[in-house]
Amino acid sequence: MKVDVLLGLQWGDEGKGKIVDVLTPKYNVIARFQGGPNAGHTLEFDGIKHVLHTIPSGIFRNNVMNVVGNGVVIDPVILKKEIDALIKLGVDVSNRLTISKKAHLILPTHRLLDAASEASKGKEKIGSTLKGIGPTYMDKTGRNGLRVGDIFENNFRQKYDALVEKHKQLLKFYNFEYNLSELESPFFEGINLIKKLPVIDSEHFLNKAIQNNKSILAEGAQGTLLDVDFGSYPFVTSSNTTTAGTCTGLGVAPNKIGEVFGIFKAYCTRVGGGPFPTELDNEIGEQLRKAGHEFGATTGRPRRCGWIDLPALKYAIMINGVTKLIMMKADVLDSFSSIKVCTHYRIDGELIDYMPFDIVSKKVEPVYTELKGWNTDLTKLNSIDELPNNLIQYIEYLEKELNVPISMVSVGPDRNQTIVRDKVFA
Ligand code: GDP
Ligand code: IMO
Ligand code: MG
Repeated sequence: MKVDVLLGLQWGDEGKGKIVDVLTPKYNVIARFQGGPNAGHTLEFDGIKHVLHTIPSGIFRNNVMNVVGNGVVIDPVILKKEIDALIKLGVDVSNRLTISKKAHLILPTHRLLDAASEASKGKEKIGSTLKGIGPTYMDKTGRNGLRVGDIFENNFRQKYDALVEKHKQLLKFYNFEYNLSELESPFFEGINLIKKLPVIDSEHFLNKAIQNNKSILAEGAQGTLLDVDFGSYPFVTSSNTTTAGTCTGLGVAPNKIGEVFGIFKAYCTRVGGGPFPTELDNEIGEQLRKAGHEFGATTGRPRRCGWIDLPALKYAIMINGVTKLIMMKADVLDSFSSIKVCTHYRIDGELIDYMPFDIVSKKVEPVYTELKGWNTDLTKLNSIDELPNNLIQYIEYLEKELNVPISMVSVGPDRNQTIVRDKVFA
């Protein structure tokens, strides 16, 4: 079978974790293909809330293999914490989790370099999660990185020391103060734990699974507008968060990609710095933040909130080849009597309906149309027949504009608060 992909179309936190968990019973394998512990994917069921950072969101279901692919960067300290927490909850991780030998390792000094780089940027900082993501991908593409497969070699410690020595020189350049020794022992404890996990050639595993007609879902992290090539550069992350990233991040050929599920909020959020044309820096934004509990799952920072942005969504759909849309957090708009949708941008007096090269230094004025709210508590709805008319109109308006069907509508954080509109998911 082909590999289906689920990824975010906005600036992350669209609700990927929830929907991967909802879809997992249809798949044999769930695979993360990029990013690292900058991700925070939330799952809710049976009254419990779980946040995953490195481990794929299929981990709570039986009979599913979860793969951390070669495109992911792994912090052994955070991975160990995640695994310890899952074991405490009674999840048998050992049978359900495999790690690619080719995934790169986040060293303690990568985290220090992330902090040093951000501090040096002052007001221009990216707003990184400070998990060491940028410096680790820099070492990967700079051909200096350490990979999971390296930890089994006798000279791993020498390789580690040599790279740390380079990092110390860079930290000197930044004039950054730190205490490395206290960070190193949890790192090596994490390395020892990884040694006990199934560490595999994940590209072979996945391609065999494809040949054997197994179903695979690739789980994206971050969102399209944070993609290093197509996002709001330089206010982006350091990986390809888009469908193409699935191919390089898992070793799966483009002609093996099946459905591409694009997931978006019924409004829009962003955490960290960078442009956000439809941001509402006012009481409406505050109302969205409150209703949506918009605080980062990884850093706890308040998320910036605004209206949905169609030029940005159209761009994301184009770049990813989205075949089905999934709309999240519709319930957050329950109490709004009218809902705005950004249809165009005005830049330098010109009206455009596409994402231009530069939204960082240019002043982008969003142009809105307005739709009626539904003023209904959606969180209690069970089936598609119960959707209020004004919500159906909102959905149909978006489908017409975006030219892709909305197959699912999420009306609450719980697994069960999911309305299916497409028989494929029934
Ligand atoms: P991810 O990074 O894409 O997995 O998303 P996050 O977990 O960072 O953020 C999504 C947040 O919204 C989490 O707190 C989820 O529990 C919550 N959530 C997901 N879907 C819904 C929904 O339909 N309604 C509401 N109110 N919350 C939701
Ligand atoms: P999930 O998978 C939202 C943002 C950071 C910052 C920028 C760069 O949960 O959707 P980085 O740590 O990658 O160097 O940060 O990207 N960012 C995210 N925002 N959700 C995420 O992941 C994010 N991962 C990174 O806030 O602006
Ligand atoms: Mg998140």
